[in-house]
Amino acid sequence: MKVAALIPAAGSGTRLGLGPKAFVQVAGRSLLGRSAAALAPHVDEVLVALPAGLTLPRDVPARAVTGGETRQASVLALLRATDADVVLVHDAARPFLPGAVAGAVIAAAREVGAATAALPVADTLVRAGPGGDWGTLTPREGLWAVQTPQGFRRDLLLAAHGAALADGFAATDDAGLIARTGGAVRLVPGDARLFKVTTPGDLALAQALAPVWDAAPV
Ligand code: CTP
Ligand code: MG
Repeated sequence: MKVAALIPAAGSGTRLGLGPKAFVQVAGRSLLGRSAAALAPHVDEVLVALPAGLTLPRDVPARAVTGGETRQASVLALLRATDADVVLVHDAARPFLPGAVAGAVIAAAREVGAATAALPVADTLVRAGPGGDWGTLTPREGLWAVQTPQGFRRDLLLAAHGAALADGFAATDDAGLIARTGGAVRLVPGDARLFKVTTPGDLALAQALAPVWDAAPV
């Protein structure tokens, strides 16, 4: 059974504001380099979707394809570039990937067909009203925040992407595309350190964590 890691890294990093986010450095290493290195021991090949015109830095052990306009399009390009039986899709922007989570997601994907790392929501949730003030309280009971990696039998994810494309449906992750077609998705306990570097505040957190992580990766 062949397993491929697929890393969508073709975003522009608008919210962070430092150029294409995958290339942003944290303690001497790019977010993409960190994500790729964390995935490599668990898979047979690593594929990365890059912004058009950019090439892989030499320290990233992977094969590159050109990404698309959306994350979904970038993942589809990656899916079409591998013949692996199982794929592990992981955001370049989540540089701290505990090995146990990667292993558990792959195992669950083999068993169920689709699985994602996710964490029970700890904060109170509220939908804002029209003026931006407190609107409606949303009970957090049973709610999980979805992370990556997400693992899939490749044939299942390809079919779900095909259906979404045909319907013009857009999702922010791949497990959502499986769920939409009625497929089961196993929730695997993720990790707080799997946060996505999205804003300048997240980058500050990543910079604080990197020396600790590099001294003793989890
Ligand atoms: N991504 C991608 N192709 C796109 C858009 C996003 O491969 N067209 C990737 C990003 O590189 C990132 C992951 O999807 O690794 C999650 O996306 P996000 O955090 O939104 O990154 P950006 O789109 O780069 O950031 P922003 O939305 O702030 O512009
Ligand atoms: Mg984005």
